[in-house]
Amino acid sequence: MSIEKISTHPFKDQKPGTSGLRKKVSHFKIEHYLENFVQSIFNSMDRVEGSQLALGGDGRYYNREAIHTIMRMASANGVARLVIGQGGILSTPAASHIIRKYKLDGGIILSASHNPGGPEEDFGIKFNTANGGPAPENVTERIYEHTLNISEYWIADAQLVDIDHQGNFDFEGLQVEIIDPVDDYAELMSQLFDFDLIHQLFNSASFTMRFDAMHAVTGPYATRILEDMLGAEPGTVINGTPLPDFGGGHPDPNLTYAKELVDIMYATQGPTFGAASDGDGDRNMILGKRFFVTPSDSLAIMAANAHHIPGYRQGISGVARSMPTSQAADRVAERLGVECYETPTGWKFFGNLLDARKVTLCGEESFGSGSDHIREKDGLWAVLFWLNILANKRRSVEDIVREHWSLFGRNYYTRYDYEGINSQAAEELMAGIEEQLDSLKGKTLGDFEVAYADDFSYEDPIDQSISEHQGLRIGFTDGSRIIYRLSGTGTSGATLRVYIERFEPDPDKHHLDTQKALGELISIAKVIADIQAKTGREEPTVIT
Ligand code: G1P
Ligand code: ZN
Repeated sequence: MSIEKISTHPFKDQKPGTSGLRKKVSHFKIEHYLENFVQSIFNSMDRVEGSQLALGGDGRYYNREAIHTIMRMASANGVARLVIGQGGILSTPAASHIIRKYKLDGGIILSASHNPGGPEEDFGIKFNTANGGPAPENVTERIYEHTLNISEYWIADAQLVDIDHQGNFDFEGLQVEIIDPVDDYAELMSQLFDFDLIHQLFNSASFTMRFDAMHAVTGPYATRILEDMLGAEPGTVINGTPLPDFGGGHPDPNLTYAKELVDIMYATQGPTFGAASDGDGDRNMILGKRFFVTPSDSLAIMAANAHHIPGYRQGISGVARSMPTSQAADRVAERLGVECYETPTGWKFFGNLLDARKVTLCGEESFGSGSDHIREKDGLWAVLFWLNILANKRRSVEDIVREHWSLFGRNYYTRYDYEGINSQAAEELMAGIEEQLDSLKGKTLGDFEVAYADDFSYEDPIDQSISEHQGLRIGFTDGSRIIYRLSGTGTSGATLRVYIERFEPDPDKHHLDTQKALGELISIAKVIADIQAKTGREEPTVIT
């Protein structure tokens, strides 16, 4: 085999964000750009020679080219074994599971998650470590340092090979295994959930479901598990064929981008249960008939019902939620007598807690939930969790949520996203809020009295590492909160996220419209940040 050692120069913009490196496809196509980052991953590993890695992606545009480049580079760098999903496909949760199940040293996942795909859109790459989880900050920092100092990468001079058929072969000294992307994952799901009971649910005439795969990676997973294994009617999975550009859609399962599903669920004769997942299969949206379950409530309801689910029958050891996620789960944890941890945004912060068995369930307001079964959030897992709850209770989604509120109180919650704003304006807006933090404490704003106002910083309870500047928080004496953060996953301009929450204990006040219930806090949030003047935006791009 001939190994080429290619001279290169550093790119200054390869710092991984909330979830790996994401850029426009055209940016990834710049000569050496992808190769530099891949080589920096290899350079950051304690031992690349003889290592074993998983490789796959969400099938978006540029997936195949990148897989081939990475295979050639893995071979040149002495990687011993690559486990690749057939066709280069692996959902993020499936990749996490494969790393764990086959005891690999890590994996490279090609995805920009819920960002649109196609020649003009986004591509991404992230590295997961041996526990199956996203590389923690010390690892992403190491990778970043390598990207700033790189001068050469190694690549094998090799022809394109077939990754569309399962089997093992030698690729320039590297052992390649092409596996079915769904098999292992489907088996894991069948161990965690009561498939017989869910099968009975699908057999009952009163239960109907739609799952929107949004032309992204979960199509084959959902079709196999829901329709083939659990007996859901054919056609339950819609948009089930993965496409490189996700059919031109924005594969983000929320009320704005999963409009097709939302319309189906809100129609007069709509199905009883609806769900969707994102580009790489780690997010989920849960809907009942004309009813939306906020991801924060979903986490709390899963925690409260976990003991009904076979994989969690022994109870949960604790719960973790990202800081901006509503405090609904905290109330369940308190009642269960277990700890609820508050971490910065991003799944990588859950890894240590899961590894140390401090928590069993975790979730984020951004349509992500998961458990200790893998080290990523998991869209279909959440859907199956809900199916199992529905099969146990035989009640509607709305009934289950309302009953939960009556037992625990309701955390009204909304998130406003201002996408694609000017980066400098966004920085100035955040600086403007920061300046006010000290003076806000003790102030009364409308009906609300400020209890604390700070810049969230997190000390990991396991390795004591500290992550600063994780969002500006204003907390009120009644438990309400306003939080501001700039997104770490966008690829053009900046995205301002404003998270607003208010707790309502009184069941008679649980029927309010969320935007109305939070109206006053929303106005306060806009005024403090001076959003309109600083961004020129009257309204957010997306409200969830
Ligand atoms: C967003 C979400 C965050 C999630 C991440 C990856 O990050 O807010 O919760 O972990 O995507 O899916 P952000 O763009 O806010 O940095
Ligand atoms: Zn995702």
